[in-house]
Amino acid sequence: MTEIEVRRIGYEDIESVCGIMVSIDPYVTLGYTRDMCIDAVVSNIEEGWGAVAEIDEKIAGFVLFRVFDGFPLGGYIRALGVHPEYRSMGVGSRLMDYAENIIFKYRRNVFLLVSSFNERAIGFYMGRGYRVVGVIENAVVEGLHEIIMRKVRKDRG
Ligand SMILES: CC(C)(COP(=O)(O)OP(=O)(O)OC[C@H]1O[C@@H](n2cnc3c(N)ncnc32)[C@H](O)[C@@H]1OP(=O)(O)O)[C@@H](O)C(=O)NCCC(=O)NCCS
Repeated sequence: MTEIEVRRIGYEDIESVCGIMVSIDPYVTLGYTRDMCIDAVVSNIEEGWGAVAEIDEKIAGFVLFRVFDGFPLGGYIRALGVHPEYRSMGVGSRLMDYAENIIFKYRRNVFLLVSSFNERAIGFYMGRGYRVVGVIENAVVEGLHEIIMRKVRKDRG
């Protein structure tokens, strides 16, 4: 079985993470540039809320999230991406486990936005217990919508 190592994101990961982000959808369709990616990654490194997954010492994917700010009532998954070569191997799930474990220590909800055309990601999130709670129409690009999804922490007892 392929060994996936998930660790906290660092400055040394900027090149690899932005290389993946600017070459995959939904970020291409939403018009993400390299500079926008660098800004997002740097702010997440500084806040400490981000992780990368490594396979054979190569960056296979990333997750950027917020715990306290960025969305009312809960944490927020800001960006998630897996290099196409490493999909369907459990990388996205491991990255989401990492983010959710940290967010749920402090917050009852995790929120995220997913583009209406991104069927694979919507299915992936539904499988992880996320449910649709709203839609932001014409959010970034005219005619394309951002779907708001929410996962609620399972409180014991
Ligand atoms: C969405 C994404 C992160 C998933 O990453 P991944 O590493 O391929 O995910 P995993 O291997 O951990 O899990 C995939 C599993 O999710 C589930 N899943 C995926 N699509 C599904 C669907 N449409 N319905 C139900 N379950 C689904 C399945 O169990 C699937 O396993 P399979 O691919 O072997 O069938 C990846 O496809 C990606 O990077 N997409 C482009 C960027 C993106 O859309 N990011 C999200 C922005 S909001």
